[in-house]
Amino acid sequence: MADAKARPAARIGLIGAGFMGRCHANAFRSVGGLFDLPAEPELRCLADVDEATARRSADALGFARSTGDWRRLTGDPEIDIVAITAPNALHAEMAFAAIEAGKAVYCEKPLSVDTASARSMRDAAVAAGACTMVGFAYLRNPMIRLAREIVGSGELGEVVSFRGIHAEDYMADPSTPHSFRTDPAGGGALTDLGSHVTSIARYLLGPIAAVNGTTATIHPRRPEAGGSNATRPVEVDDRAVFLAEFESGVTGATEANWAAAGRKMQLAFEVAGTRGSLAFTQERMNELLLYPAEGAAGRRGFTRIEAGPEHPPYANFCPAPGHQLGFNELKVIEAAELIEAWAGGPPAHPDFEEAYQVQRVIGAVQQSAAERRWVEPASL
Ligand SMILES: NC(=O)c1ccc[n+]([C@@H]2O[C@H](COP(=O)([O-])OP(=O)(O)OC[C@H]3O[C@@H](n4cnc5c(N)ncnc54)[C@H](O)[C@@H]3O)[C@@H](O)[C@H]2O)c1
Repeated sequence: MADAKARPAARIGLIGAGFMGRCHANAFRSVGGLFDLPAEPELRCLADVDEATARRSADALGFARSTGDWRRLTGDPEIDIVAITAPNALHAEMAFAAIEAGKAVYCEKPLSVDTASARSMRDAAVAAGACTMVGFAYLRNPMIRLAREIVGSGELGEVVSFRGIHAEDYMADPSTPHSFRTDPAGGGALTDLGSHVTSIARYLLGPIAAVNGTTATIHPRRPEAGGSNATRPVEVDDRAVFLAEFESGVTGATEANWAAAGRKMQLAFEVAGTRGSLAFTQERMNELLLYPAEGAAGRRGFTRIEAGPEHPPYANFCPAPGHQLGFNELKVIEAAELIEAWAGGPPAHPDFEEAYQVQRVIGAVQQSAAERRWVEPASL
């Protein structure tokens, strides 16, 4: 492992200290000890909504400085990489400011709140030659990487179908109040969760040519805020389902649902081919099920492949198979790939271009649901 002191610093500015902000900070703090990186992340500045919140979080998470004004952070000449973990509707203006100031940008998913702004973000990044990455962290799972290898190797024969779902239940209770996730400008289960399963579908099977979807709002009103008796209407979907035709000709069926009682993390898929199939669920994220359609009748079945050091980069965390990685470790892997890319290594993936393509699929499903017809993401 390279001497940390000999490595240049990758100076990090983080916007947002909530669920994902803490996850990013944890990843940047630990990644240098787990991966042999060309640069060492240094936690320079944390921005949150006000000075006091930012200072408290900066102290807790190990940042040198804090600010209640994210523009001071994006304009800071001593910051190289801006990580954005603020609510969705703020991603675009924060990313524009960071790109304009010559920074690399690590933005949480979804890239933005609509296709037009996502396209502008992609265009700005390309024009500036900026290093970008978007936090579709589930793609970092060694088991998902293995799934892609198996699909690409032809081991399943000709791939014929995809079934994907991302279901959780954090909005199943109608007394759960509004938040940025129910903001009509860029909220909804399709945007929040459908973007993850779409990123996996594209990672495994390539571009999606057309979609036909429908959306539903299960709970029509929610409290304005926690502890409030006042309610206001919900203008976004709680559930979306859509059919997809991939450019390859494979057909798929996908669901995004944040009101699925009992489901905590059912980000799951099945890919079926003429000679076998694969099945995965993030609820058992260290396992991939592989069904080879061979062997004696009555003895065929799914093989449960457990994650281990043969599945990169599992061995960076643990030398023993079956001991299992967790959600936060996917962010550490993501941070490693970001630092590599920022230091001149292979381009980060998914970058703003790929996240824009995901956003186009989401936009196409929304349009399809509104107009009750097939829509091609490429037409948006
Ligand atoms: N990749 C994943 O698995 C995953 C999981 C959860 C959330 N996310 C994404 O991360 C982002 C944040 O979600 P979260 O769950 O962390 O939300 P959160 O509410 O827990 O945190 C958001 C933070 O942003 C801060 N913030 C709000 N406005 C701000 C402003 N103007 N300036 C600076 N800070 C501001 C809030 O104070 C809060 O600390 C969203 O885009 C969400 O889609 C991704």
